[in-house]
Amino acid sequence: MLTDIKLLGGAAATLGLATAALVVLPYMQVRDVQALPGSRPYTEQELRGRAVYIANGCVYCHTQQPRARHQAPDTERGWGRASVPADYVYDSPHLLGTMRTGPDLFNIGVRQPSQDWHLGHLYQPRAFVAASNMPAYPYLFTLKPKAQEGDVVVNLPPAHQPDQQVVVARPEALDLVRYLQALKHDQPVLQDPPPSTKTSQAR
Ligand code: HEC
Repeated sequence: MLTDIKLLGGAAATLGLATAALVVLPYMQVRDVQALPGSRPYTEQELRGRAVYIANGCVYCHTQQPRARHQAPDTERGWGRASVPADYVYDSPHLLGTMRTGPDLFNIGVRQPSQDWHLGHLYQPRAFVAASNMPAYPYLFTLKPKAQEGDVVVNLPPAHQPDQQVVVARPEALDLVRYLQALKHDQPVLQDPPPSTKTSQAR
């Protein structure tokens, strides 16, 4: 009997500690976080694009969490400043990701604003980056003999242009590109001082 109580007590204490450290404390740290000035919620179209991003598993190869200078040279890679909790206020579920087979996309809207480029790259990444191992997403597009009114035609390099046909973006592709273009997190935040300032303070 006593062993049972000890065992149960130990299990409850372990679970309680884990819940406090992994659920309660983080919740208290971020519950009052406000969106950064200059940021805005996603539009309906961007949210549809976000759903396409999730459905197609982009998160398996792309992170959305540029790291601080002391952790990784992400800023030098052109991925933007380190992200802060306030950057994720409108993200549910967040798409932090863990794998970086491709570049971090948290600021792709800043570094690649062109709809044309995104559409072509989604249709065939290798048309733009010869050695890319990103999958092509041809089912986000329709091949037609001739464009009709209102069609968004994808401009591809001549070598990748299908014979006698035009590539037209489907609504899912356009939504996805709107979402990618909206990934801009360049609002200023207070950052850790760079290491050189720290050293001079210490002296
Ligand atoms: C198997 C891994 C993989 C998957 C899945 C994947 N990508 Fe990529 N992605 C890459 C790689 C590798 C690159 C770098 C080469 C290139 O630009 O094609 C890349 C590059 C990109 C770039 C250009 C980034 C830059 O800095 O120039 C964008 C935008 C992008 N991917 C969006 C997407 C979207 C949207 C999806 C989902 C529909 C997706 N990727 C799925 C691997 C992947």
